[in-house]
Amino acid sequence: MSNNQVPNPRPEIVGPQEVQPPYPIFFQGEVVHGFGRGSREMGIPTANILESAVQELLKERESGVYYGFAQVADGEVYPMVMSVGWNPYYNNEKRTAEIHIMHSFPQDFYGQQVRAAVMGYIRPELDYEGIDKLIADIHFDIKVAHNSLSRPDYERYKHSSFFQSPSKSPARAEEQK
Ligand SMILES: Cc1cc2nc3c(=O)[nH]c(=O)nc-3n(C[C@H](O)[C@H](O)[C@H](O)COP(=O)(O)O)c2cc1C
Repeated sequence: MSNNQVPNPRPEIVGPQEVQPPYPIFFQGEVVHGFGRGSREMGIPTANILESAVQELLKERESGVYYGFAQVADGEVYPMVMSVGWNPYYNNEKRTAEIHIMHSFPQDFYGQQVRAAVMGYIRPELDYEGIDKLIADIHFDIKVAHNSLSRPDYERYKHSSFFQSPSKSPARAEEQK
């Protein structure tokens, strides 16, 4: 994917004023080990979601960066950015979904359940010549997500019953879509 598909300068807020289908897209899944480069090389910790939990999302949604809300176990709900795709910069051979939650957690949460509401799309997945540009773009994605989620019609999903209920099976998460 070439970089000329993203307007320059990039918009600081994306999507309509009010949430529109197919959003929100809810999912719940276990955090599994990724390649571990996110934290180490980029200083941006990402949580890889078990493939079976995001199968539908991976099948139906285009690759790129999305924004929304996420919750680890029964903790607080925070804004997140999510990368869906091949990570061309790293030449991955598998399509994955990984999220960066905008909160500083004291420890890793591998094996825990993450619940997420995807609220919109930010940009296509890009290839980069250097990691610095990738990191700068992710920081910009984070700003866009904060701005976009602060609109009242988006913000209210932070309090969705999908998040408030105690841990439950993926089957119940399906019911609430
Ligand atoms: C918000 C966000 C946007 C991303 N955008 C891209 C991208 O455009 N191109 C790309 O190759 N990787 C992108 N990545 C993925 C990083 O390359 C990825 O986090 C890195 O491969 C670390 O993964 P690992 O923890 O599985 O090693 C993005 C990640 C996040 C969280």
